[in-house]
Amino acid sequence: MYKIAVLPGDGTGPEVVREGLKVLDAVSDANGLKLDYTQYDLGGERYLRTGEVLPDSVLEELRQFDAIYLGAIGHPDVKPGILEKGLLLRLRFELDLYINLRPVKLYPGVETPLKDKGPKEIDFVVVRENTEGQYAGAGGILRKGTKHEIAIQESVCTRMGVERCLRYAFEYTRRRNMGNKLTLCGKTNVLTYVFDLWERAFHEIGKQDYADITRDYAHVDATVMWMVKNPEWFDVIVTENMFGDIITDLGAMIQGGMGIAAGGNINPEGVSMFEPIGGSAPKYTGQNVVNPLAAIGAAAMMLDTLGETACARRIEKSIMHVCATHMKSQAAGKMGYSTQEVGDLVIKNL
Ligand code: IPM
Ligand code: MN
Repeated sequence: MYKIAVLPGDGTGPEVVREGLKVLDAVSDANGLKLDYTQYDLGGERYLRTGEVLPDSVLEELRQFDAIYLGAIGHPDVKPGILEKGLLLRLRFELDLYINLRPVKLYPGVETPLKDKGPKEIDFVVVRENTEGQYAGAGGILRKGTKHEIAIQESVCTRMGVERCLRYAFEYTRRRNMGNKLTLCGKTNVLTYVFDLWERAFHEIGKQDYADITRDYAHVDATVMWMVKNPEWFDVIVTENMFGDIITDLGAMIQGGMGIAAGGNINPEGVSMFEPIGGSAPKYTGQNVVNPLAAIGAAAMMLDTLGETACARRIEKSIMHVCATHMKSQAAGKMGYSTQEVGDLVIKNL
């Protein structure tokens, strides 16, 4: 039995989470798993009602679960930054979710904007460091609002933080066993302190413990170029927090859009959190038109991380089948089916 905290969140979050839970129930019933859900109403609505974003008591409760399943955070009436920092980033820091795992995989039948590229070419994974870099919040503003103001936002990289991320990426590449190639995405020609550390650690660890994995390096600007031009060059990409944030939005687009892109915020030694990486899509709220496949894919990643790989694989295979044989598009309102119907189709094809 697994105890799962469910945070449907804002906008269309609850609609897609409902489909994810439906699929999880179907697959767990059929495979003798038991999932025990506890729902939390964190998000914009609660903040507007009570002023609370993430009460300490709730945070303490969340530590007790086997995993967290998140819908989306973001509300049109809440100033940008409050929920992102107070909820999403706080959870990443407090639960030490130091890996952000974002597969970029084009399923058969899904449209990509890349000409002449298909599922064979677009299949790689980004391992994004998730607790350091510019996200650490170091810096500040001096003389704010005057002509002499100074804003500094520093990137914090620790040997420990970089090393644990690199080790995870090497292990992941080995377990994936496809190209056995790990690409470090950096900017060694300009960010000469941060990526000096990253690059040294990368080669030291790789040489010592992962001689079977080919080590490759690309600057971040070249990385986005190759992601469009030659995505087949990538197997696993490892990178720091901000670069990872940026390149994975491009990744989501080439795999068919935000409707299908799933991710995991992972603490390999603790409780991890899984989410569709698209936002709360407020304009579609309650219309039953957004794509639940990203949320369903996140549920599969959750099972995979819990060690239920066979169940995870069943869900992914069903998603692939539904994409290939049913859906007209992955875009909201254009799927040829409602949110709920797509969930039903995934269950039918499990
Ligand atoms: C993501 C998001 C977040 C990030 C925002 C909402 C803080 O863009 O999960 O990629 O920048 O990490
Ligand atoms: Mn992002």
